[in-house]
Amino acid sequence: MCGIVAYIGPKEAYPLLMKGLQRLEYRGYDSAGVALFNGDIRVYKKKGKVQELADYVSTLSYEGTMGIGHTRWATHGEPDDINAHPHFSGNRRLVLVHNGIIENYDVLKKALEKEGHHFESQTDTEVLVHLIEEIQTRENLPLEEAVRVALTRVVGAYAIVVMDKQEPGKLVGARKASPLVIGIGEGEYFLASDATPLIEHTKKVIYLNDQEIAVVERNGDLQIKKIDSNEVQTPFIHELDMEIEALEKGGYDYFMLKEIYEQPDTIADAMRGRINPRENWVRLGGLEKIYEQIANAQRFIIAACGTSWHSGLIGEYLIEDLARIPVEVEYASELRYRNPIITDKDVVIAISQSGETADTLAAVELAKEKGALVYGIVNVVGSSIARATDSGSYIHAGPEIGVASTKAFTGQVTLLTLMALDLAQRRGEISETRFQELLTEFKNIPDKVQKVLEKNQQIKYIAGEIQDKPNALYLGRGYNFPVALEGALKLKEISYIHAEGYPAAEMKHGPIALIDEQMPVIVIATNRSAYDKIVSNIQEVKARKGIVIAIVTEGDETISHIADHTIEIPDTEEPFTPLLSVIPLQLLSYYIAVMRGCNVDQPRNLAKSVTVE
Ligand code: G6P
Repeated sequence: MCGIVAYIGPKEAYPLLMKGLQRLEYRGYDSAGVALFNGDIRVYKKKGKVQELADYVSTLSYEGTMGIGHTRWATHGEPDDINAHPHFSGNRRLVLVHNGIIENYDVLKKALEKEGHHFESQTDTEVLVHLIEEIQTRENLPLEEAVRVALTRVVGAYAIVVMDKQEPGKLVGARKASPLVIGIGEGEYFLASDATPLIEHTKKVIYLNDQEIAVVERNGDLQIKKIDSNEVQTPFIHELDMEIEALEKGGYDYFMLKEIYEQPDTIADAMRGRINPRENWVRLGGLEKIYEQIANAQRFIIAACGTSWHSGLIGEYLIEDLARIPVEVEYASELRYRNPIITDKDVVIAISQSGETADTLAAVELAKEKGALVYGIVNVVGSSIARATDSGSYIHAGPEIGVASTKAFTGQVTLLTLMALDLAQRRGEISETRFQELLTEFKNIPDKVQKVLEKNQQIKYIAGEIQDKPNALYLGRGYNFPVALEGALKLKEISYIHAEGYPAAEMKHGPIALIDEQMPVIVIATNRSAYDKIVSNIQEVKARKGIVIAIVTEGDETISHIADHTIEIPDTEEPFTPLLSVIPLQLLSYYIAVMRGCNVDQPRNLAKSVTVE
């Protein structure tokens, strides 16, 4: 969703801001803008891509060593040039960019209109900059104090950066429930929604905490205060562990394809130092610290959204099957609003790639209020969810830029598998021999994923066969039911083909009515439990002339005689099959989207990091 980048220092701000906005494109957006200070403030903004903004600005003047930039994902008001950020105050003295939603903007707007304010856009953001102006002029306050007081009157979520032409030596940033990072360079500061625009300039960052306001000054001063109490905070400087290459496509056409191909490495990275089949142990550092509490938990509740929710479902199968702890999986957005029963005997596991999803973060806060222990499975280091949870594990997948999540999904499933194995052993739910068997096989998974990736030409061919179909059905059973959901989501997200994932046996209760010769049915039919049942499901689809694409275990001879296409994956233990069976589904949706001419990395309307509810 919206992205912020701001700069103050000795260099020309415009090229830095534009590069920063390009780095933020992956978050999802529909318009972009910059404001530059050079004696006065100039604002340039455009509906569409950052490149369209660059084309527009190229003929204009863009000097200045301080500026703010923004990519907007529309919430209040359609995507157009006027609603794009930055927004001016009425007196043209202040300019502001914002990520989040000001929920009481209507009340504030009416009150400001009574004071004579006029608004150009339909945005909640413009209301906020007028509110700051009103307080600043009425009470004659310095910028940071006017911003702080204004924010105490705001209900909602925000990350903001404000620039004032009468106080040109400083930028003011603040956050509540939306991320903001300060990058500390040589005699310069950056502010940004995440670390991606900063990495080529500095590795020293401060993650602003909730309800904090920061002032960064050209003279090198930096001060952080609490918004409500005005108390000065001591900043903690983090060292970023990320290389610029991770943000480049590295020869691939799309980030999504690069990320699909990275999976043998990212899965191995998620296991690294956490598993040793020779010595028969699995250890998750985050779990170690809280093992006593976890061991006595009456149940686990997994809270997540989107693809992370699908990995959560696999987590339920894994943890119940191996560690014998009851698990419930909840959409974070439902959990937080439905008055759930959560007690201090529960453990809540929050799963999130970005660590910034607003609903998942709110579910974490709710679980904490109710006394539950909260464990995070997160990719982005230093993100809000990583910091809000009591303990947790990073998946170490590196930056995921493609909007459709791939390597983060397999990283999450890897972590959940390690967690299930760890708990199974500690709780004595599994024999040492079986534990060793599983561990030894789990170590082979990265190599087996590599073997599945080598099927790419066959998968591309199948993609060509079904690329024009308007619908698709994905079926799976047991561990592979969530994979069917994930396969359908991938196709919807990037190719805009309507797709449904279903438990294979449920097909008879509805989706079977949709099957005809135009319907591709992708069936995950590996040869472990319920194999005969899934063979029957495939027969049922074929009897109605559906086009069957089956993911089968190497050497399968039954299904290849019935299905239209079969994609073989290596044999593995049943609980590990999702890590292999999801790969062909990722590649299938990728190739179909490319064949249909879709922008794979930036699909329409979607955002990588959903920081509004
Ligand atoms: C968005 C992204 C999805 C992601 C979901 C949850 O919808 O487009 O790819 O699965 O948010 O995000 P999270 O960062 O919490 O895993």
